Order: sequence, then C-alpha cells, then structure tokens
Amino acid sequence: MADKPREPWQFGRFLQTLSFFGEIPFVGNFRGLQKLLGMRQSTSTTLHNEPPNTQVVLVVGATGGVGKRVVKQLQKRGIPVRGLVRNAQRGRAILGNEVDLVEADITVPETLTPQVFENVRAVICCTGTRVQPVEGDTPTREKYYQGIKFYLPEVVETPEYIEYRGIENLVNAVKPYLSQRRNETTVFDFTQPLPNFHALWGAVDDVVMGGVSESGIRQIPGSALFSGNVSTANSGGFASVRTQVLETPLDLSQYEGIQLRLKGDGKRYKFILRSDDRWDGISYCYSFDTVYGIWMTVRVPFSELIPNFRARTIETDEPFPTHRVTAFQLMLSKFEYDGTLNPKFQAGSFQLEIESIQAYGGAVLPQFVMVSSAGVTRPGKPGLNLDKEPPAVRMNEQLGGLLTWKLQGEESLRNSGIPYSIVRPCALTEEPGGQPLMADKGDTIKGQCSRNDIAELCIRSLERPEATNQTFEVKQASPDEQTRQDWDGFFKALTLDRSPLSV
Ligand SMILES: NC(=O)c1ccc[n+]([C@@H]2O[C@H](COP(=O)([O-])OP(=O)(O)OC[C@H]3O[C@@H](n4cnc5c(N)ncnc54)[C@H](OP(=O)(O)O)[C@@H]3O)[C@@H](O)[C@H]2O)c1
Repeated sequence: MADKPREPWQFGRFLQTLSFFGEIPFVGNFRGLQKLLGMRQSTSTTLHNEPPNTQVVLVVGATGGVGKRVVKQLQKRGIPVRGLVRNAQRGRAILGNEVDLVEADITVPETLTPQVFENVRAVICCTGTRVQPVEGDTPTREKYYQGIKFYLPEVVETPEYIEYRGIENLVNAVKPYLSQRRNETTVFDFTQPLPNFHALWGAVDDVVMGGVSESGIRQIPGSALFSGNVSTANSGGFASVRTQVLETPLDLSQYEGIQLRLKGDGKRYKFILRSDDRWDGISYCYSFDTVYGIWMTVRVPFSELIPNFRARTIETDEPFPTHRVTAFQLMLSKFEYDGTLNPKFQAGSFQLEIESIQAYGGAVLPQFVMVSSAGVTRPGKPGLNLDKEPPAVRMNEQLGGLLTWKLQGEESLRNSGIPYSIVRPCALTEEPGGQPLMADKGDTIKGQCSRNDIAELCIRSLERPEATNQTFEVKQASPDEQTRQDWDGFFKALTLDRSPLSV
C-alpha cells in the first residue's frame, strides 16, 4: 500500500509555539514578560464547588442578634443557608420570606429531625439563653442591645438546658449528617475573566514534531474552551494547551490532588503537571474520559500521575513533587502511554470546556462554628478580681451559672469529634462594625465587638483550616493597634498557641 502523502509542515506555527513558550534564543526568554505581567497564581478558597447535595450551612439561633446577621451575610455571598428557629412566624418576620427555615428547639431532641439536617455541610450555632433587663424587655430589645448603658440583667430561661444540654443534643443530632470537609484552593477560576489568560496559556500541538493538528484555548462566558482539530497526518496525533512555566511554582504538598470541573465531548483527554522549568522535561499524566455535553468533576490524585518522558513512562519510585508545580497542561492524544492507543480517540474536531482547576483534599475545615463567650473559664478562677470583670462573669451565679454551662456546652462540641471552631466574643454591640478584630487565647481579654463582625468571622472560619479545633476569644482591636482587618494574619495567629488554653 502506498504511503499517504505528507502534508506540508507548518513551520510558521512551529515558530509561534516555540516563541510563545520562550524557548528559542532569538526571541528571548519569556520570563521577563511574565514578570512584567505579574503572572502569579492567586489562591483563594471557594465554597461553590462542594458536591451539590451537601451545600447548606445551618444557622442555629437564626433569629438572634448574631444569627440573623450570619444568615444575611451568607445570603449576600450566595451561599445556601437554612435557619433553625424556635418560631417560624417570628423567623419570617426577622429574616424575610426568601430564607429556608426549619422550626426546632435544641432543648427538645425530638424536634431535631432529619429534615433539619438534610444536605447540611456545616453549622454556625449562635444560640444563647434569653437574658433581659430586670425592668423588663421591649419587643425589639433595642435598649439591651446597645451595649452602652448597663441594665441589670436576669435570665428568663434555664441556661443548663440551652447552653449545655441543648448544644449536646444539637452536636449529637447533626454529627451523622456531616462528612469531613477539606480545604480546596482554586488555582484557575475560568468563570471570571483572567487578565493574563492569553499570556499564560498557549497551544502545544504536534506541529512541534512535524504534525498538522491545531488547537487553542480561549475564555468564553463562564469557562475556558480548549478546542481544535486533531490530525494523524505526518505521524502526528496530538493537540494540547499548556501554561508557561509559573514564575512562582505552586506548593500543593498539603493537598491530595487536582480537581477539574469540565464538560467534554465523550473523548479521553490527559491532564498533565510538571515540576521542573524545562520545556521538554518529565510530564506527569493522568487520562480521563468525558461524557458528551455533561458537566463533571474529575479528580486527579497526585499519587496516580504517570511520569513520562517523550511519551515513554519512566520507572521510578519517586512520587510527583507536589511542593513544586510549575506547569499545567490539557491534551488530546492518539496515544496513551508507551505506544498504546487511546481507545476513545477520533481524529477531527474536539472541544473541552473547563470551569476551574482546583487543588483538593487539603487540611480539615471546621464544620461546626459555635459562638460562645469570653469569660467562660473565669467564674470561680482563683485570684480573679471580680470588680474588674464584665457583668456576665461578676453575675454568673445570679444568671443561673450561664457561663459555666456555656463552658460545658463547649466541652460537648470539643469532645464530639466534629471539626469545630469556638469563637468567644467579648461584649457584643450593635455597632455597624468593620473594625479589625483580634484573637487571643487563655480567656483573659476584655473589650467589645460588633455582632456584624462576629457574623463575618464565623462565616470566614468555615473556610479556614487554621481555625479547625481552635477555641479563641475575640475583641475589636484598638485603632492604634490595627487599622485594617488582615484575615490571613488573624487566622494564622490562631495556630501560634501563644498561651495555653485554660479550659
Ligand atoms: N450579649 C453579649 O454581650 C455577649 C457577649 C459574648 C457572647 N455572647 C453570646 O453570643 C451568642 C449570640 O448572642 P446574641 O446576642 O446573638 O444572642 P440572642 O440575640 O439572644 O440570640 C439567641 C438566639 O438563640 C435562640 N435560641 C435560644 N434558645 C434556643 C433553643 N432552645 N433552641 C433554638 N434556638 C434557641 C434564640 O431564639 P428565639 O428568637 O426563639 O429566642 C435566638 O435566636 C450567645 O450565645 C450569647 O450568649 C453574648
């Protein structure tokens, strides 16, 4: 049989490819341009890529001062939220008709039904014993909320039931519904326009070896589209898109692998990572199948990457160097590994839409954030000068041991095995907030903080592995200490363990 005539080699495209990736001397090195463009990877955690059936954040005590703000802030961020309220009518009046509400009472275990916890991925618990001025409450409770004038308080409910037994009931009831959440980091979020997209991503097709396949990648609304035409002419048969070598390699050693959110055309593709700075170094590959027209999440465990050099697998016991990821690549190839054929390969046009590339399986995240109180360890503490303590500590006995029972409630959560975060605010105010918060451990600080800011802290804690299994006090920093909230610094400080936690 006569050989198929060779198609003319597209030398211009070959040069284009090489010049894009900065590998021919007369074009110069692309790193300078990378620097100029500031092409660093921004990493940010996201909430939206959870499996869709476990998305809801349950806010317990959703009608309270902090609880209602947590609900509103979650809604504002587009995070699915459900409010647990004792009275749905009151709940609607405070939270409006848009929010998903369930009626339950944490002191009555029978009310904590499966319906309450369906699809719940995390809990923010803002319950508290109702305390009111001795002289009587007002319907809106505004005078007690102001945190400016002191009103002699009295409890109108039993703290043991709400602060301790109720929390224990809630923890026991929700535990079977929570599956462990681990940190995810978005490396590329193609749902948003990326200013450096075209400088960072480029095609590497078989034209570099004499073939005529042709592909590209571009951003379209909501995703990036890798598409083109793959041809086996001239012994070719692959098309791919690849990033430049990242100026700052990514350290993904805390993660288990890469998660791709994509929609394909039924073909088998390869996802490739690299760990060196070379154009033609070792590539670590993972093949995955797509289903025509269906959005899917593909997980690429680092442990399953196959090391290759020029399409030949390398025998090595060395795992992929996850601490140094230098480049990302997507490929459609006629070949699998060592000359075996891709069983789903068809020459011709193809398309793969990618929404995001994330690292998954990072550190464990909190699943139960409890709003407790500064001072819970102080009642009865030897050597404490009660005159200098806030009213809740001074009056713990008169208030039915409120703080003592709160501490018991904390213990129930700490002993539950659920990854938690216990936030102990100092005096809560109705101020608009926006003041930087500072955290401490050891239960000695006094001060105040806005309920708005505590609500924000609770929501942020859900996405911060540094907050996992931490109990900490929090207050507003004085303006000369800090002028702007640095959340990274705030959460990092929690892991430093400056003083032993005295619980
Ligand atoms: N006030 C302060 O200065 C201060 C300082 C530090 C810490 N804290 C603590 O911070 C937390 C939040 O404070 P906050 O001012 O937002 O409290 P809040 O306005 O009194 O709200 C308490 C919430 O808990 C709910 N609740 C009470 N018992 C319940 C039960 N058995 N089952 C279900 N829900 C129940 C209430 O529901 P209803 O609407 O049905 O009553 C209300 O939604 C509380 O634990 C509080 O003790 C307060």
